Amino acid sequence: MQYKAVIFDLDGVLVFTDKYHFKAWKKLAEKLSIDFTEKDNDRLRGVSRAESLEIILEKYKGKPTSEAQKQEYLAEKNDTYRQFLGDMNRNDVSDVVRDTLKKLRESGYRLAIGSSSKNTAYILERTELTDAFDAVADGTMITKSKPDPEVFLKAAELLRETPSNCLVVEDADAGVTAAHAAGMDAAAIGAATKSQRADYNLEAFSDLLRIL
Ligand code: BG6
Ligand code: MG
Repeated sequence: MQYKAVIFDLDGVLVFTDKYHFKAWKKLAEKLSIDFTEKDNDRLRGVSRAESLEIILEKYKGKPTSEAQKQEYLAEKNDTYRQFLGDMNRNDVSDVVRDTLKKLRESGYRLAIGSSSKNTAYILERTELTDAFDAVADGTMITKSKPDPEVFLKAAELLRETPSNCLVVEDADAGVTAAHAAGMDAAAIGAATKSQRADYNLEAFSDLLRIL
């Protein structure tokens, strides 16, 4: 086997919480009269909450934002986002995703999460996915988010696996860059397939069963 472990990004790969991130940021942006499009949202994929706010504020035409005000905006965005998460359940993970994860494990691969999100544990719990993984590395354990490799190196460390034995599955260009910086191959799905920078492009999640 070329790989021994698979590290999955969460938002936009296993669950479509990326649309909830967009809606929550959009609500804040509208309040601040900032034009915020789906294209802008692509820049936020894989990027931490605080860095995402900085990107959104690039288009803000008002006075410079104080640190205290930024903290309020971050809390506000996360409150809106968590309301969407609260409505999630098992059905928010497709049968194809669940079935593919199960088959990979049965084939002997170790599976981990590598996500910048500090809401990872909550999402896994809501969707009953926690037990599908051998390790979880998330935004609560790192100081630098993607494109920095820290979260993927953390996942490999938790799995006690060498980076070159790990394949990363990502929907973000920042995540593909992070995987390569960690010395790992990357399989792109969704938005990240456009840039053609990954080692594999997946049309469907189940395509993983052809690569692995
Ligand atoms: C990543 C998302 O998974 O998590 C980003 O792609 C998001 O868009 C980041 O900003 C941080 O998420 P959270 O849940 O900690 O705000
Ligand atoms: Mg993602």
